[in-house]
Amino acid sequence: KNIAIIMGGYSSEYQISLKSGNVVYDTLKASNYTPYRIHIFKDKWVLVDHQDQEFPVDKNDFSVVVNSTKITFDCVFNAIHGSPGEDGFMQAYFKLLNRPQTSCGMYQAALTFNKRDCLSVLKPYGILTAESYYLNLGDAINEEDIIKKVGLPCFVKANKAGSSFGISKVYKQDALQEAITVAFNEDDEIIIESFLDGTEVSVGVITYKGETKVLPLTEIVSDNDFFDYKAKYLGQSQEITPARLTTVQEEKVVTVAKKVYEILKMKGYSRSEFIFKNGEPHLLEVNTVPGLTNESILPQQATKAGISMLELFSSAIEEALK
Ligand code: DAL
Ligand code: MG
Repeated sequence: KNIAIIMGGYSSEYQISLKSGNVVYDTLKASNYTPYRIHIFKDKWVLVDHQDQEFPVDKNDFSVVVNSTKITFDCVFNAIHGSPGEDGFMQAYFKLLNRPQTSCGMYQAALTFNKRDCLSVLKPYGILTAESYYLNLGDAINEEDIIKKVGLPCFVKANKAGSSFGISKVYKQDALQEAITVAFNEDDEIIIESFLDGTEVSVGVITYKGETKVLPLTEIVSDNDFFDYKAKYLGQSQEITPARLTTVQEEKVVTVAKKVYEILKMKGYSRSEFIFKNGEPHLLEVNTVPGLTNESILPQQATKAGISMLELFSSAIEEALK
């Protein structure tokens, strides 16, 4: 089967996506699938062959002509973090083309990529979250109000972004404005959240061989102030799988993560982030195109569960083709 691995994207995460996509490509090369690398950038959608030659994608039917042969794809493996792969656009496009793809649906992607909206949909179900304050670009900024609501320290985040781009931890009111400016460089909406001072856990929930499966939990211990870009990708953190939790804590976070997956009617991969506060897991966000690089968490969790990369990726393809 021909598999189009889409990678790149329009956001700051494009380099991480290229890494994720290449891991999938290299893994699938040693399988019965025929993988192709498709780079999706604002100015070009191209198939990149093994000699790095580029061939344009026909967006009418997502096909590519290579040396006078038209290639079509049985399935799309989505490895685009951020827009347009993780926020619903590619999902909608492939749905219209009736082409199977490995990630969740358009609505799930759009919802989960919007931190504010996702958390507010989940709150009535009893899912705990941080206190938060939301701003649109151009809104008047009332620092006292913000700090009254979320306290200090707090986190200032782009509402729709990944890999910690645009995130700052703010300790003092006089650092708030700068953090807000940084976050607005990534998105036109930002969310400011209270700091949850507890153990951080990353929970991979996937559909694997037809079943919802929670992978071994990962505890995040950042060498930096928080789990920022450098901690994520430059080794400045310890990711401990399985997480050092009590049985009760583990049961709680697994139950909540599964519940979130079910409430949202997720498909494919997901990786949700939680921080324990007062013994209860609080949800930070849900990622629907989690990183698959060698530094990323989901592949480490799969390995701990005895699932090889090939099994992990094949299962996503088989689920999509069902
Ligand atoms: N946004 C990054 C790729 C992740 O969630 O792993
Ligand atoms: Mg994220």
